[in-house]
Amino acid sequence: MKILLLGFGNMGQRLLPHLEGDITVVQPSLEGQKSFTNTRFIPDVEKLENDYQTDAVIVAVKPQIVDQVLPKLNLKCQLISIAASVTTDQLKKLMPTATSVVRLMPNVAMEVGQSANLAFATPNSDTKLATKLFEPTGPLFWLQKEEWFESLTPMAGSSPAFYFLFTEALINSALKLGIDPKVARASIKQAFLGSALLASQSDDLITLKKAVTSKGGVTEAALNVLDPTLPNLIEEAMEAALKGIV
Ligand SMILES: NC(=O)c1ccc[n+]([C@@H]2O[C@H](COP(=O)([O-])OP(=O)(O)OC[C@H]3O[C@@H](n4cnc5c(N)ncnc54)[C@H](OP(=O)(O)O)[C@@H]3O)[C@@H](O)[C@H]2O)c1
Repeated sequence: MKILLLGFGNMGQRLLPHLEGDITVVQPSLEGQKSFTNTRFIPDVEKLENDYQTDAVIVAVKPQIVDQVLPKLNLKCQLISIAASVTTDQLKKLMPTATSVVRLMPNVAMEVGQSANLAFATPNSDTKLATKLFEPTGPLFWLQKEEWFESLTPMAGSSPAFYFLFTEALINSALKLGIDPKVARASIKQAFLGSALLASQSDDLITLKKAVTSKGGVTEAALNVLDPTLPNLIEEAMEAALKGIV
């Protein structure tokens, strides 16, 4: 299988190790490619051979770059884009030769094969190839409506950042108490990992929360502070994020 990967930044670098086949990566600043000896790197799509053909183009450049790159490709192949906020209609217009258009929203956990990949395919598009290419990065969640894609992006795409922020805040609280940083970091990260695994097996997160909260205990004391403010704060943050989507 032949794949053309556009962009080798945060996401492209995390995606490439999961891809198999004859891969060409387009990336202007050729750095960080040394460990991928079986992959061809070129600085610009204009360097592709005139008779170059591929099974799929994967778009992993910044959204504002998409309309500069795609129109230069006259390829009859599947188009898979992870660019935030670039709709399938826009993608089709930018590369009319595409035989199928799929949008995906992965997150950085693709590096460990645990991304939550939102996915949307235009009618009659082939979802098999996108599934095959992206499943090693984490499960795909196919959405019936493209609008849901926009609404869920801050929760699924950006959520690792929220999680890292929350973890770091708890670690800092432990550090202020003079706890050995190594122990603080390791124990808090393990606590979150365990919680995430438990949550992944249940739809009833409220019952899980109750199981940790003894009457008059330390969890209840902390939740008395968090519960009245955190849900509103998160709603506000999501509203801000959705306003940022153009
Ligand atoms: N970061 C995330 O968590 C995340 C999650 C889901 C989706 N996404 C989407 O994934 C896409 C990539 O995000 P990112 O965080 O990986 O961005 P990034 O780190 O900026 O990577 C984009 C790469 O594209 C390269 N590039 C620029 N112009 C190019 C061109 N004409 N042809 C080919 N490559 C070109 C850039 O190279 P230079 O640095 O040399 O300019 C850069 O290495 C974005 O559309 C974003 O919306 C990101």
